[in-house]
Amino acid sequence: MPDLYPLIRPLLRALPAETAHRLTVTALSCGLGPLIAGRGDPDSPSLRQTLWGRDFPNPVGIAAGFDKEAEVPDALLRLGFGFAETGTVTPRPQPGNPKPRLFRLYEDRALINRLGFNSKGLDQTLARLRGRRRTGIVGVNLGKNRDNENAAADYLDGVRRVGRLADYFVINVSSPNTPGLRDLQRRDILENLLRQVVAARDEVAPGTPLLVKIAPDLGDAEREDIAAVADPSGGIDGIVIGNTTVARSPGLRSPHAGEAGGLSGLPLLAPSTALLGDIYRLTGGKIPLIGVGGIASAEHAYAKIRAGASLVQLYTALIFEGPALLGRIKSGLAELLRRDGFSTIAEAVGADHVVASPHRQQAGSRR
Ligand SMILES: Cc1cc2nc3c(=O)[nH]c(=O)nc-3n(C[C@H](O)[C@H](O)[C@H](O)COP(=O)(O)O)c2cc1C
Repeated sequence: MPDLYPLIRPLLRALPAETAHRLTVTALSCGLGPLIAGRGDPDSPSLRQTLWGRDFPNPVGIAAGFDKEAEVPDALLRLGFGFAETGTVTPRPQPGNPKPRLFRLYEDRALINRLGFNSKGLDQTLARLRGRRRTGIVGVNLGKNRDNENAAADYLDGVRRVGRLADYFVINVSSPNTPGLRDLQRRDILENLLRQVVAARDEVAPGTPLLVKIAPDLGDAEREDIAAVADPSGGIDGIVIGNTTVARSPGLRSPHAGEAGGLSGLPLLAPSTALLGDIYRLTGGKIPLIGVGGIASAEHAYAKIRAGASLVQLYTALIFEGPALLGRIKSGLAELLRRDGFSTIAEAVGADHVVASPHRQQAGSRR
């Protein structure tokens, strides 16, 4: 089937960014994904991986924020993503920030968003997750309501109510658009929060992986803190690295570069991959990492895998390149693995680090 996205792109571009996104999600929910994206080739067996006892057909996932309300996780899996992350969902519905709050930076291949956790709330997400046939891996990214001072209560609520409906949980402490949220990354606060969340997970959904999503803007000391807190002995199963950045690289050219909010896309590739490599080194490769930020090609995804990511996710590049990008990334990744003599993704994880071999031995046997 042909890739129709190049024909649709001018229409989407003419619409306000959020309207274009809504239209895309609606098209996916109507089953139009394969028509728009074309049908890709089957995944190469070298892309398969078992992590946390779950079988990932390929390592490329859709990042949180694309399908905040769990409207289209299965349509995204059918498009060829190896896994889908829904959310961020907050316990109660909340509108988020006033519009406009999403900006396309064409010249920089980037977006700035200050959505502020617009969410229809957990009830709706739960109803949708209950209605699925569960044919692929869908993680649930949990947040807190803006007006709740007691952050832990909201995350606990999320874990308890979602329970076994999630294939994995992500505790999002890194969105820049909810005041105070990123302070939860401070070592003492995070330790306390995660201890409670791990206990709740062990109660309602033992064995469901629990990940924490961090900001790309962490300094050296904060990186060490995160690595210490995320030790697997504490019950954390992985780290998502990372969210959008509040930093603005000096080279940005778009007229929207000065908008407040989180920047995603190409300018985030280098800093988020460097952070990923640091966290891999600091954690000694003992905990699986998901690399996110700026991926727009197979080479970018491969760089994250070699820096230490077992899985990768993307969002922003899809807006600029369309969904056929996914097939190009997957076939390109298989080719890069072949070129470098790796027979599986797991063998390439962390390959750029001198201490890669202990990780590689673990990769096959990790939960
Ligand atoms: C419009 C938009 C909304 C997002 N919403 C969320 C969200 O609700 N929760 C979250 O953890 N990350 C959210 N993100 C961050 C992405 O999941 C991802 O971490 C970030 O965009 C970097 O990846 P990218 O450069 O491939 O887009 C959002 C990103 C964008 C662009």
